[in-house]
Amino acid sequence: MPEPLLDDFLHVALKAKTFGRNHYLLQRVDSTNQFAKKLASGGAEEGTLVYAEQQTKGRGRWGRQWESHPGKGLQFSLVLRPKHRPSTGSLLTLLGAVSVATVLQSMFRVRFHLQWPNDVVFGKKKVAGVLTETLRNRSGFSYAVLGIGLNVNQREESFSIQIRERAASLAMVIGKEVDRFRLLAEILLQLESDYRAVQRSGYRSILDRWVTHSNLLEKKIVLKVNDGIERGWVRGFHSNGDLILCSEEGGSKRFSDGHVLEVQHAACD
Ligand code: BTN
Repeated sequence: MPEPLLDDFLHVALKAKTFGRNHYLLQRVDSTNQFAKKLASGGAEEGTLVYAEQQTKGRGRWGRQWESHPGKGLQFSLVLRPKHRPSTGSLLTLLGAVSVATVLQSMFRVRFHLQWPNDVVFGKKKVAGVLTETLRNRSGFSYAVLGIGLNVNQREESFSIQIRERAASLAMVIGKEVDRFRLLAEILLQLESDYRAVQRSGYRSILDRWVTHSNLLEKKIVLKVNDGIERGWVRGFHSNGDLILCSEEGGSKRFSDGHVLEVQHAACD
């Protein structure tokens, strides 16, 4: 059974109209995404927030683990029931990452980049990750759970040896501790506003903002995909969120999923 979070400070910080109005603030849970999926299957309303100080089975894309550092990170999930359902959750992942980067940039005046499809990075180090999970039906999906993990007040030694070289927290970037719950409240406001805009007029403006934050455009990358490795130059992003690669073997290819292993600094011909 998940333990409730005793500190009720977070209740006060929640300001968005619907995102977080209904909320589960937990001390410990297996995964906020997993918990939110159960709530969504049971009919939880759109915007239901699951926040946990600690996840025992926090997860990322491709079955990877998301580390928990109680009292230092932010990890939460939102139940979404989009009216216009894309065929996958990819666009919601892009939306989540754009909203987070927008808040970080405006609160801390530091340039963060987005690394397709779901990472917010500072230089080569990951500061936040987004995991969208959906329950599909024939016409798209009946709900989505948007999960976000953000490294806030960790120090270098908070991270396990395995990820230390690839991870950074906001405190490490800006040189001072950050009020985690104020940050969470700002992110929920931004997410709600971006999500409402998408519901009204589609994903075009999210994709445009994504491109301005992207660290990959025109770069040569090495991409791990399901069945191997692809090398090529990033030409852009399709309207469904796919990455468009000008392949080393010639011709352009589209990818709906993948993991960027390396970014090289050669321009596309
Ligand atoms: C990734 O980097 O591949 C995505 C990481 C997403 C982590 C968050 S933390 C809150 C939510 N619950 C989970 O189990 N995962 C997401």
